[in-house]
Amino acid sequence: MNIQKDFPILSHHPDLVFLDSTSSTQKPSYVIDGLKQYLENDYANIHRGSYDLAENSEKLYIDSKKKLAELIGADSWREIVYTMNSTYAANLLASSARRSNILKKWDIIVLSIVEHHANIVPWQILAEETGAILEYIWLSDDYKLNINELEEKLKNSHVKIVSLTHVSNVTGEIFPLEEVRKLIAPLSSKGEGQGVRFFIDASQSVPHFKIDVQKLWCDALFFTGHKLMADSGIGVLYGKKEFLECLDPWISWWWAISWVHTDTFKSAPIPDKFEPGTPNLSGAVSMLKALEYIEHIWWYETIESIEKELMEYALEGFVKRPELKLQWSKKPDTRVWVFSFSHDTIHALDIADSLADKNICIRAWQHCAEPFMIEHSLTGTCRMSLYIYNTKADIDIFFQALDEAIEKLSW
Ligand code: ALA
Repeated sequence: MNIQKDFPILSHHPDLVFLDSTSSTQKPSYVIDGLKQYLENDYANIHRGSYDLAENSEKLYIDSKKKLAELIGADSWREIVYTMNSTYAANLLASSARRSNILKKWDIIVLSIVEHHANIVPWQILAEETGAILEYIWLSDDYKLNINELEEKLKNSHVKIVSLTHVSNVTGEIFPLEEVRKLIAPLSSKGEGQGVRFFIDASQSVPHFKIDVQKLWCDALFFTGHKLMADSGIGVLYGKKEFLECLDPWISWWWAISWVHTDTFKSAPIPDKFEPGTPNLSGAVSMLKALEYIEHIWWYETIESIEKELMEYALEGFVKRPELKLQWSKKPDTRVWVFSFSHDTIHALDIADSLADKNICIRAWQHCAEPFMIEHSLTGTCRMSLYIYNTKADIDIFFQALDEAIEKLSW
């Protein structure tokens, strides 16, 4: 199967070696053409008009949510809220939690030290506003989630929120969230303000493997479209029906409400109460097309088999280079194809610049995970990440350029 031909950017830039898909994936023509088709033929605002265009446009919007619900195992498309991206979704969650009085003074929010800033800052703000306390779970020596530490923390009945990434955008490690679920399930929320709420940042898992919110048993989970081959500007907040229903939206404007009188208003039912104003309609269509494209290439089975082969190939290359310090465990079965590495004497940004001169795209520095960097005494790392359109040739070119960069910069 020649997946590369599906991605026009690769033919427009034949020398491009794109190894930064953890930041954002490239888009297949199926998504690009689908978006063009929508804007040329089907575009109109939704929730308002009774004419055909408006109804077709609304159908596509809801179809994209239905496909997402099916993808992640949600009970209904009504549990899917569209946001701008993961960061927006986490902020919507934290700010709505604040409005809903889910936390009070001295309550505890538990995060891991390797969270993306998007899953730290909204909770820092929430803690500051409510007097709640933030606590972090540290990682084991091989960058795995320290489950025993979580178990200890959960003995404190003040723990009200646990919010964890599913896969780290720095280490590529998959956190064992089904084990976490077993610890949290007996303490789960039995109503407003009671028990523990479990939230998941799935930004780096959904692009790589199939998730099931029923098995993960979470109150809410979020991810973004642009890492999944959809356009940028469309993110997802999944919430269990009963959780979303008891959550007061952070913002309420048009369509987020059912009715307005001069002195008060009533929120619309879920999910609309979280989506004020005209939503990102073309973003939703791009999400639908990206999911159809994944389906077209045989769901996640293809992604996972390409991933396994390329990951093993890349792992061999890294392990052969003892001068690199690797920020991940070497077990391929508990990680996705994201590889962070550093060099003792060469700054990550210098390596990335040197590769960029050869049209090899990687990300360098802190990857929006500064607490992890501080904890591990790192000024930054280089991060090379792969996706379905990469090849072994890309990996060969990367390692050759990396060796040359290290030789040149070591002087
Ligand atoms: N969160 C994205 C990354 O890790 C932008 O690069």
